[in-house]
Amino acid sequence: MVSPKSAVHAARRRRLLDHVGPTGAVIVPAAAVHIRNNDVEHSYRQDSDFFYLTGFDEPHAVLVLSHAHPEQQSVLFVQPRDPSREVWDGPRLGAEGVVSELGVDAGFDIAELAEKLPGFLEGVDTVHYAVGSGHPFDAQLFAAVGAARQRARRSGKLFPTTFVDPLHGIHEMRLFKDEAELDAMRRAAAVTADAHQRAMVVARPGMHEFEVQAAMDHIFRLGGCERTAYDSIVGSGPNATILHYRANRRKMEAGDLLLIDAGCELDYYASDVTRTFPVGGRFTEPQKILYEICLASQETAIAATKPGATLDDVHEAAASVIAAGLIEHGLIEGPLDEAMKEQRYKTFFMHKTSHWIGMDVHDVGAYFADGAPRPLEPGMVLTIEPGIYVAENAEVDERWRGIGIRIEDDILVTADGHENLTAAVPKTVADVEALTTSGA
Ligand code: GLY
Ligand code: MN
Ligand code: MN
Repeated sequence: MVSPKSAVHAARRRRLLDHVGPTGAVIVPAAAVHIRNNDVEHSYRQDSDFFYLTGFDEPHAVLVLSHAHPEQQSVLFVQPRDPSREVWDGPRLGAEGVVSELGVDAGFDIAELAEKLPGFLEGVDTVHYAVGSGHPFDAQLFAAVGAARQRARRSGKLFPTTFVDPLHGIHEMRLFKDEAELDAMRRAAAVTADAHQRAMVVARPGMHEFEVQAAMDHIFRLGGCERTAYDSIVGSGPNATILHYRANRRKMEAGDLLLIDAGCELDYYASDVTRTFPVGGRFTEPQKILYEICLASQETAIAATKPGATLDDVHEAAASVIAAGLIEHGLIEGPLDEAMKEQRYKTFFMHKTSHWIGMDVHDVGAYFADGAPRPLEPGMVLTIEPGIYVAENAEVDERWRGIGIRIEDDILVTADGHENLTAAVPKTVADVEALTTSGA
C-alpha cells in the first residue's frame, strides 16, 4: 500500500509513459553527488525531474520508464540496504523499499544497472533524456544504448535511435502546476512572507546585511523549509544596484534602502520574492518617487497577466510604466514611444520581468512555441519583478544615484486572470513603513 503522496508521483509516471508511447522510454538519473573537498560533499539536493516522478531523495539512483517489460514499466535502480553505510549516512529504502514505499513496479541494486539497462531499451526507439547536461550517468546510458543496438542486430527489435529533450515531456508537465504543487508553493510563499516581514521589522542602521539574512533563515527553517530556493540577495545602499549581489556583508547606514531577494524552498518548491525598504525608517523623497514608479510598473504587469497574454506582453507593460516614470523625472529622454522603441529604460531596468517558477526557482518549461513567445495558460506560475537600478556613477541628477529597487512576486495564471501567491508580503509605501518604523 503506497502513500497518497506516492500516488501523485505514480500518476505522473503513468502520464509520462502514455505520452512517450509504446516505443518510448524515459530515463532520469538522480542528481550527482559533488565533492566540496577531500571526502566532504556539498549538501545534496535531489534533481527536480527525478523527485517530480519519484518523491525519492537518495543519491546514486536511476529511474527507468519503459514498455520493454510490461510488468516493470516504472523501475528504480538504487543504493542497496547496507547497515555499515547506513550508520554513516542514514537509512536507505533499498530495492525492496522503493517498491513498497514509492510504488514503482521494481527496484534493483544500482550495481546491476549496466547489465539490466540494455534490456529495458529493447523495442524502444526513442529515449527521453537530457543529453548534454554533463551528468556522469551519460557514459553508462550511451554504453547501454550501444549494447541494445548490438542485441537488436540479432533480435530484429527496435533500439534507441532518437533522443528527445525533457523539454517536450517532463518539463511541459512541470510547467503546469497541479494541486499538490500549488499547495507546496502556497506554503513556501507563506513562510517567505513571514521572513520578509521580519526583515522589515529588524533591519536597523549599524546592523550588517548578513544579520538580516540570518533572521530570515531562522524563520525559513522554523517554517519547515529545507533550504533557500537560491542564495539570498541582501543588498543595502549602493549594493541594491548590483543585480545578483550576494556578499551580504555591508554595515547598513541610516537613509539606506535594503533590497532583499530571498525565498525558501519547501517540499521541493521555490518561492522568489523581492522587497525593497528603508532601513529602520521612512523612504526619502527620491527613493519614494522611484519606488512608486517600480510598484506601479509591477502592479500594471500583474494586471496584464492572464491566459492568452505572453511574457513579452507582461514585460512591455512593466517597462512602459518605468519608462514613463523615468521620463517624467528626467532620468531618460522622451517621448514615451521613442523611449520604448529604443529601450532607453534599459540603462536602469536591464533585465526581463519574468521567469517560470516551480521546483526550480528559474523553472523548466519552454518560453517559446513555434519561434514566438507562448501564450500564458492556467496553471503556469511566473515571477513579476521589475526593478530600477541607478548606479552610483550614473549620469543623472545626484539625488537619484545609488538607489536600487526591485519588487517581485510569484503569480499563478488562473482561468480568469491570475492569483498572486506572495501577496501577503507588504509592498505599499504605507504598509512597508508601518513595519520599518514599528520599533522606532
Ligand atoms: N532570485 C533570482 C531571481 O529573481 O530571478
Ligand atoms: Mn528573486
Ligand atoms: Mn526571480
